[in-house]
Amino acid sequence: MKDELKTMLQEVYGPSDKETRVYFAPGRVNLIGEHTDYNGGHVFPCALTIGTYAAVRPNDQKVLRLYSANYPGAGISVLPLGAMRYDPADGWCNYPKGVIKVFADRGMEMTQGLDIIIEGTIPNGSGLSSSASLEVLIGTILLDQFGWQMDGVTLSLAAQEAENKFVGVNCGIMDQFAIAMGLKDHAIFLDTADLTYQYVPLALEEQGLKLVIACSNKKRGLADSKYNERRAECEAALEAIQTVRDVRSLGELSNEEFEQVASVIGDPVRIRRARHAVTENRRTISAVKALQQGDLKQFGELMNASHVSLRDDYEVTGIELDTLVEAAWQQPGVLGSRMTGAGFGGCTVSLVREEAVEAFVKAVGAKYRETIGYAADFYVVSVGSGPSRIG
Ligand code: GLA
Repeated sequence: MKDELKTMLQEVYGPSDKETRVYFAPGRVNLIGEHTDYNGGHVFPCALTIGTYAAVRPNDQKVLRLYSANYPGAGISVLPLGAMRYDPADGWCNYPKGVIKVFADRGMEMTQGLDIIIEGTIPNGSGLSSSASLEVLIGTILLDQFGWQMDGVTLSLAAQEAENKFVGVNCGIMDQFAIAMGLKDHAIFLDTADLTYQYVPLALEEQGLKLVIACSNKKRGLADSKYNERRAECEAALEAIQTVRDVRSLGELSNEEFEQVASVIGDPVRIRRARHAVTENRRTISAVKALQQGDLKQFGELMNASHVSLRDDYEVTGIELDTLVEAAWQQPGVLGSRMTGAGFGGCTVSLVREEAVEAFVKAVGAKYRETIGYAADFYVVSVGSGPSRIG
């Protein structure tokens, strides 16, 4: 990939005597703890070995030039340095622009132009965070090219700010954190209330297990507005609870404490949304404990319970993800299976015994095609590290 990208950079932008550097930022998958990161709860994601690559070379024109090998038809975007403004016509380039803007707001202004080629190996719109990967990648490039210092947690917050304030998606911190702080063969147990975290060894291979991602290939359409709607429902539920109890977030409540106060929320839909946020947080804490005790069976069962809660209480699964997960549950050698990411399309994640993977892909794939009418894609993934310069 390194050499190919360097060659492509020469072909796209022409020769130059300036040094070309290559960078990588991973994608992520969340094992459990869904829709808890904006509710002050816990998440348990890990970085992947698939992700986003960039080749970068300084230029003397005081412009940022961007080209994506994934969208060759879009050609080269040329953006003057200085005030970056969101423009829907700029498509994916708004993510780099957003990160550059957030850096500039913190006093880190680009003083030299850059020519950048991007190539991603994360399927787009799959829910494996191709956008957060791109944001963290751009941050990593800026830090290295200009010699600025920033720790991984601050980098993840800057990337999230770009997505929230520049791109306008009100996401939590999970994706950018998992990517900026990824560690090979470890998942990250993160408390989103205060950003304390712990690396938990996964070492799946040693236990003869694989992580299998099934991508539904459903167009995500209204996902962003539905996402913001769920956030608003949880916020309204919390406000109602706060009239009778002193809590800062749903993540502070145990399941029992929630049931004691749930009726004050009134609206039955909001009660279910909040119930998911509360129980999912508790499931995540239990799942990490089970994993640390080597109880993978229990871990898998909690993954399954997470899906049921996302399906029935949070209502973010839909027929595509339900079909994939319910077919996975029927397969031998599956410890657990659930939707992962925001939902409304995207992917499922399954923990599968190595010897059962081939049959899993065949059977779940056949069931999906038969029920939904088009194919799902399957990826056996490995847990990788955070962003870095690789060449
Ligand atoms: C998306 C968001 C995350 C998180 C998940 C749901 O991936 O970007 O912040 O809220 O959905 O768990």
